[in-house]
Amino acid sequence: MGVPAHVLRRIGMSISEAIDAGIRGEPGAKLACIPSHITKLPTGAETGTFFALDLGGTNLRVAMVRLGEGHGVIEEQVVEESTVPARLLAGPAAALFAFLAERLGEMVSARWRGEGPARVGFSFSFPMRQTGCRDGQLMYWTKGYACEGAVGQSVVPLLQRALEEAGVPATVDVILNDALGPLLSSQYCGGGTRVAAIFGTGTNMSYVEDARRVPGVPPGAGPGMLVNSEWSNWWDASVMAAAELDEDADLDAASLNPGRGRYEKLVSGLHLGEVARRLLRRLWAAADLGAPGGLATGGSLPTATVGAIADDSSKGLLAVRDALRDALGLHPPAWVLRPVQRVCRLVLARAGRMAGVGLAAALDYAGALEAGGRVTVGVDGSLFRNSRPFRDGVTGALEDVLPGLGARVHFHTCDASSVIGAALAAAVCGPVEAGSPAPPPGGKSAVGQKIRGSREALRQLSFGHVDGPGGGRGAAGPMENVVIEGQIRTVSITSSSPGTSHGASYHGAVRVGSVHGPGDGGLALRGLRSLSTTPKGGGAAPRFFVAGGGNPGTAVPLAATQFGTPTSDHWPLGSPAGSPKR
Ligand code: BGC
Repeated sequence: MGVPAHVLRRIGMSISEAIDAGIRGEPGAKLACIPSHITKLPTGAETGTFFALDLGGTNLRVAMVRLGEGHGVIEEQVVEESTVPARLLAGPAAALFAFLAERLGEMVSARWRGEGPARVGFSFSFPMRQTGCRDGQLMYWTKGYACEGAVGQSVVPLLQRALEEAGVPATVDVILNDALGPLLSSQYCGGGTRVAAIFGTGTNMSYVEDARRVPGVPPGAGPGMLVNSEWSNWWDASVMAAAELDEDADLDAASLNPGRGRYEKLVSGLHLGEVARRLLRRLWAAADLGAPGGLATGGSLPTATVGAIADDSSKGLLAVRDALRDALGLHPPAWVLRPVQRVCRLVLARAGRMAGVGLAAALDYAGALEAGGRVTVGVDGSLFRNSRPFRDGVTGALEDVLPGLGARVHFHTCDASSVIGAALAAAVCGPVEAGSPAPPPGGKSAVGQKIRGSREALRQLSFGHVDGPGGGRGAAGPMENVVIEGQIRTVSITSSSPGTSHGASYHGAVRVGSVHGPGDGGLALRGLRSLSTTPKGGGAAPRFFVAGGGNPGTAVPLAATQFGTPTSDHWPLGSPAGSPKR
């Protein structure tokens, strides 16, 4: 069942093409390649205390991470794990988010001693469509979840509202997929990482894309964009025909999601036990070993047991014997133990080879191999950490795809990367600014509010400064983008200057950056006459920001303090020619 080198190379080419098609948003692309809208990597110089929430499956982690002085120093990290109660997996989304808020609230109240609200990064490992680093709309649930009222919704407002209802003084600065965790962690600790991957219960890969290649990203948004590939869904029947076993096809057909996650079904911890069970059942029948015991039952062989069988180095393969007895109720003759171990090692090694070819393709695609020399790959996940045959498979595949690559690639294993990565993402994306209009009590829409502006206030905004982690200080002059967050159906912006009007329909958080004004090509708010929204019923409060510094994560609010008291659903910001309206 080994995948020969020439087949691996074809697989690598197909994965590389799929990344390219995915990021360009080609219809029918085999990979989603979701831009995270995080356009900065940590430099190692970030400092401060951040909180993280990691919903990776039914496991929930909350953490406090203190980034210290010096390069890439994690001064303190406190991580607490809990299991999401089964009743919340299919209940109303509000109940799930209330649970998350409660857990985070415990950590914040025990560990936050700073000024203002605690800053939170939210690692949310479900497929989401992102239009901003604070806006991820859940596409569909996976991993056993089926909560009502979340699909199609922007997840951050759901959590933020739950935090407010629970009275937790915290703001969610960023939402990201866990695949970005090892990329951010590895950058923080060492730097130079362009590709990272998770090989655990599930698998995913993230990489740094050239922002100019990402559709919809306004010019000047930053040189790079971190991308969540969602590579678990890669599959190319034409090349995989030479590598797929009958057992793979059977496992897929019998799964909860046939046809989806096919790459993950070859590579990840969730499935390898089942692949091994199906192969061992074939071995049992072929060798006429009698009743197959637990081998006849789906899901009876955990991947951890496959790992323990593969690792047994005892002379009599005692661990193999014990595992067969304990997990499957089998008592085979001694000569069977070695072939059983061989099957388990092959399953893990093949998974490693499939993972390795994916990494080779990603490294090549991301341009990480061009400079020559050592290449760092950030990696997390129990499979990678615990399985020697898997790791050897990865290195062997790198070498087979490109001779010499196995020795060049250095793996930076990142523990707890999802929470560290979420904290780092909060650090690089910057805070939701203090003074940003708070969602109204009870989580009702802020529509119905009006903010009146004066010419003076407008001038301040137009010539104000925006601090950005990108070093971006919006110099005197127009800002780059208007960012409007919230459950909004329509946003229209009108300007007194010709050629600077914009109106469009949006769902969720939007960035309006296509309006060109004088000066640096950004949107000149000097000419802006009004900013209005039409609500999407029952959503979170619309929030208006002006982003600057070339970093869409950096925002200053059009705060009520600058524009007066909200009173209707129209925000007339004042007329540049007219007298102050206030
Ligand atoms: C999910 C990814 C996630 C990966 C690792 C996959 O099943 O689709 O979003 O990053 O598991 O947790």
